[in-house]
Amino acid sequence: MAEWFKAHAWKVCILEMESRVRIPSSLQKNSYINKNQIMYNSKISGLGMYVPENVVTNDDLSKIMDTSNEWIIERTGIRERRHIKKGDGNSTVVMGVKAAKIAIDRAGIHKDEIDLILFATLSPDFYFPGSGVLAQDQLEIPNCPAMDIRNQCSGFIYAISTADQFIKTGMYKNILVIGSENHSGGLDFTTRGRGVSVIFGDGAGAAVVTREDNLSKGILSSHLHSEGKYAEELSLIGPSTNRWVPEILEANDPDDISYYPYMNGQLVFKNAVVRFSEVIMEGLNKNNLQPDQIDMLIPHQANLRISQFVQKKFGLSDDQVYNNIQKYGNTTAGSIPIALTEAWEEGKINSGDIVVLAAFGSGFTWGSSIIKW
Ligand code: ACO
Repeated sequence: MAEWFKAHAWKVCILEMESRVRIPSSLQKNSYINKNQIMYNSKISGLGMYVPENVVTNDDLSKIMDTSNEWIIERTGIRERRHIKKGDGNSTVVMGVKAAKIAIDRAGIHKDEIDLILFATLSPDFYFPGSGVLAQDQLEIPNCPAMDIRNQCSGFIYAISTADQFIKTGMYKNILVIGSENHSGGLDFTTRGRGVSVIFGDGAGAAVVTREDNLSKGILSSHLHSEGKYAEELSLIGPSTNRWVPEILEANDPDDISYYPYMNGQLVFKNAVVRFSEVIMEGLNKNNLQPDQIDMLIPHQANLRISQFVQKKFGLSDDQVYNNIQKYGNTTAGSIPIALTEAWEEGKINSGDIVVLAAFGSGFTWGSSIIKW
């Protein structure tokens, strides 16, 4: 018997692990469930957004740097963006929490039913800890796990995909996904920085991702990619462990531009149009869908010209693509949830619709999510 057990102990361990998956006690009467029983989809059950009141037009920017309304509209489609105003109380986390409260309310759940917070941002309030725990504190949700997703413009897609996996395994039931950015505090608003600073705006969006029993509805699939060889082509490398604070203070160099974002705009543009198209097609193929079956494409709002290129490539009508970069600029991790919330509020997304989310950005990272609403 002892011999048999020795030879088969590993099988016993695996069987034990497979048959019992620990899930939060808050979700289950029994602390353990059979793995074979957990087969769920996830759906977006609530959406919210928040942008600061302070509107900054292209003409406002042309008063402080050498640019023009015409140049910005022609190259990017952006007419205005929102910037946090000193003293208005906003920060990346504060805006994210404002959006999250609306999303939780619309999901029809109590905040204490949130099992996990995923916070996507490239402009966190603190170097550490992450914005997820700060949001948890401001939302007064006790002890649920919270983590940050550092994938810039693709951050919301990476976060949605992560939430989807946690729900599909049966681990969690309600996950709060936040995408929020305070860009304006860290941009170079001189002519030196105009290639970047005219593009970005502040704002936040949030979604509650909830367990869905109907497997033909909800998030059908997500597709994620990255190509780190281009990491420095769209980056902010200044505050890093390559140079700790004492060294920076000693240098005290006002011309050190490593604290501002750098973007190789044309390279980013060229890669974006290719990767957007590829990853949307990947998602459609995975679900046996044709482009004309897309009811709503929500592209990350990087540049209106990129969205228009993708729209043309897939032969989509204006009704099938949602853009609001004209009003908000590029809000990075906030851009998709802000656009998704607006499209939903305007009644442009309805039950049964095929909704495609797609993003490309710094990393390079890119991804898509295919949702049956
Ligand atoms: N106003 C006026 N002139 C400007 C400005 C400005 N705001 N910015 C740049 N210029 C000038 C440049 O100095 C250059 O002048 P020069 O020819 O005398 O040297 C000229 O305009 C052309 O500059 P380009 O950088 O070549 O302009 P381009 O047509 O590529 O447009 C842009 C720039 C809008 C940034 C574009 O490249 C782009 O949108 N790239 C993609 C951005 C993107 O998708 N980012 C990804 C997401 S962001 C993220 O992940 C964080």
